[in-house]
Amino acid sequence: MTQDFPLPQHSRIVATDEDTLAMAAQAIRDGKLVAFPTETVYGLGADATSDRAVASIFEAKDRPQFNPLIVHFADAGQAALEVIFDDRARKLAQAFWPGSLTLVLPRRKDSSISLVASAGLDTLAVRVPDNAIARALIETSGRPIAAPSANRSGTLSPTAALHVELSLRDKVDIILDGGSCTVGIESTILDLSGETPTLLRPGAIPMEDLAALLDPIALPGNGSAIKAPGMMSRHYAPSIPIRINITPENRQRGEAYLTFGPDAPKRAALNLSRKGDLKEAAGNLFAMLRALDMPGIRGIAVQPIPDVGLGRAINDRLKRAALGLEQSGRPKSIPGVNA
Ligand code: TXA
Ligand code: MG
Repeated sequence: MTQDFPLPQHSRIVATDEDTLAMAAQAIRDGKLVAFPTETVYGLGADATSDRAVASIFEAKDRPQFNPLIVHFADAGQAALEVIFDDRARKLAQAFWPGSLTLVLPRRKDSSISLVASAGLDTLAVRVPDNAIARALIETSGRPIAAPSANRSGTLSPTAALHVELSLRDKVDIILDGGSCTVGIESTILDLSGETPTLLRPGAIPMEDLAALLDPIALPGNGSAIKAPGMMSRHYAPSIPIRINITPENRQRGEAYLTFGPDAPKRAALNLSRKGDLKEAAGNLFAMLRALDMPGIRGIAVQPIPDVGLGRAINDRLKRAALGLEQSGRPKSIPGVNA
């Protein structure tokens, strides 16, 4: 897909093959930053065992240091060297890995993962991605890879190599191109470090699928301390205002209308899924928000999206994108802007 665009000069994007993979793996071992595709979104990866390498992720993204990173592994066995799996965690890992489920688990005392990655917490967020390039990079480098989404903090997550280039420019050493992400929305984060499993971030694995294996699952809030430090504020945001749950009658002049489903007005700007398929909509979400974030468009109005299955993750991202914009359309500065 990136080949359709003229690449910026000095592009860091490389087509992924055996040679570039070996080069990227060496770069990881050398403490450099490598952006790579996962099935959810592109990650900005570094050697998770190196304080310095991990610190440079925070610097490149302009990410607050208190916001911990997800560490990616080639398989569950490698993850089990760093965190403690209980029966619940084993069951979920077996059902959903490799895949788009991140588990927050207690860190092992002798874990080799940098404390900078987990922001000093005694838990660690771990996942085994379902993308061959991602797993090959982890395997070839021989290191667990800490990786947040490969975008500047607070902006839309990247679902193509070019998005990474445009957001991070020369702050990343290599961008492995793996085409468009097949899922297109971030992983679901489930905290299993306490007694009650708690959903910290709705994402690519619908909560209904988790609840089929593990019941009950709590939503964070009332009483439970906020445990995903980056999930409190405006995030995933384009630079223009977003209004959500807007029916066709309530659109405003100058706004682009992002719709969903077969009954949407035909003249709307873009449709997340004309078939009304939530999976397709999740895959299109970030790329379409990005496409509408352009001069001449005053804001984006989004048609209501059903709040079930993947719709929950879509609505979560839209709500965060819509948060905290002043009348002028500029983001308020909110401490703790995520990822
Ligand atoms: O799909 C994804 O999850 C992508 C790909 C690259 O794997 N990664 C991603 O990372 O979305 P990031 O950094 O953008 O979001 C990670 C979230 C943050 O909200 C962070 O606060 C939370 O995970 N998190 C990380 N470690 C945690 C921990 N130990 N306890 C609670 N939350 C944690
Ligand atoms: Mg992020």
